[in-house]
Amino acid sequence: MNRRKALIVTGAAAAAGVAVLVAERAVRDRGGPDRPAGVPVGPFGADSTAEEVTAGLDLSGKVALVTGVNSGLGAETLRVLTLRGAHVLGTARTLEKATAACAAAGDRATPFALELTDFDSVVACAAAVRREGVVLDMLVCNAGIMALPQLEQVNGLEKHFVTNHLGHFLLVNRLLDRVVAAPQGRVVVVSSRGYLWAPPGGIEFDNLSGERGEYDPNRAYGQSKLANGLFSLELARRLGRTRATSNSVHPGIIRTNLGRHFPRWKKLLSEVIGWSFMKSIPAGAATQCYVATNPRLAGVSGRYFINCNPEIPGGRMEDAALAAKLWAVSEELTRPWLGSVDAS
Ligand SMILES: NC(=O)c1ccc[n+]([C@@H]2O[C@H](COP(=O)([O-])OP(=O)(O)OC[C@H]3O[C@@H](n4cnc5c(N)ncnc54)[C@H](OP(=O)(O)O)[C@@H]3O)[C@@H](O)[C@H]2O)c1
Repeated sequence: MNRRKALIVTGAAAAAGVAVLVAERAVRDRGGPDRPAGVPVGPFGADSTAEEVTAGLDLSGKVALVTGVNSGLGAETLRVLTLRGAHVLGTARTLEKATAACAAAGDRATPFALELTDFDSVVACAAAVRREGVVLDMLVCNAGIMALPQLEQVNGLEKHFVTNHLGHFLLVNRLLDRVVAAPQGRVVVVSSRGYLWAPPGGIEFDNLSGERGEYDPNRAYGQSKLANGLFSLELARRLGRTRATSNSVHPGIIRTNLGRHFPRWKKLLSEVIGWSFMKSIPAGAATQCYVATNPRLAGVSGRYFINCNPEIPGGRMEDAALAAKLWAVSEELTRPWLGSVDAS
């Protein structure tokens, strides 16, 4: 990367970080976030941990699929859901990683290989899950990547969009009947407030290769996280006549391996001042565990949660027309793999 480009990328990254912090400050200054009507507000908040928000719940007999269990929030979600008695189908990019991650949970966790950028792997994972013959009470789309420093593509598509959105879109669709068959199945899509970094139009359908214009790691991540939220929104609409629900969450800002591609200055900054705004991993995993399990949320769908509570997101996160278009485009892009579900 030449110096000019490095300066532009660094400046954009700093501005994007400041934008998210300013948005969070604005929420605090307003006296709290705008809440959607009719959605229960619970007793938990930013500091609550995944153990605290699930305390007293008996999840025995329930099955959860969690993607990305070998690291960060996925690992904590696996730990706490199994602690409460659920059986977790834990995915990682290789079976070895998944097996190691599931080992501590003993027979309460079953490992699966899932490489989200390889749609054959997604189909194979879904088929292997189907062979377990279980219904899915929870499907937590957690795995993700952030801020690849250079444009990377998978089959000509920008890699954040493929990994964070398309891979999960395909996985959920291949397993959706298993979620719908559960007494009250829940899809939880781990998005991010970083969706505010998405391009002004939301999803650049005419630039999914990412090749047009200057590549910006935060904008690419932001677009994929907006896609996560819009996917959940449209999925909730489609699940409308079923008992199943879909919601998206922002977990907070947490020091995990997600920042592995950050430039050195950003890693250093988070080391030095991160304590002032970052959550611990147990607190970071709380919102997804809460939304996946809390009995009061049984009928809640198409919502966005932060700090274990519902919030009305800003920007394009509630743009139903954009969500419908994203679904149609995602279907086209994954058509050869979506197929008819092979229940064998
Ligand atoms: N940490 C935060 O501050 C923060 C803030 C907002 C949202 N989030 C969201 O939270 C979720 C969890 O992130 P984290 O913070 O726990 O990060 P993490 O520690 O880096 O964990 C990410 C997980 O995703 C997996 N993964 C990455 N690429 C994959 C691929 N191509 N196929 C399958 N799995 C893949 C990783 O596997 P490997 O380890 O093998 O790469 C890892 O298991 C992400 O969706 C992220 O966007 C995090």
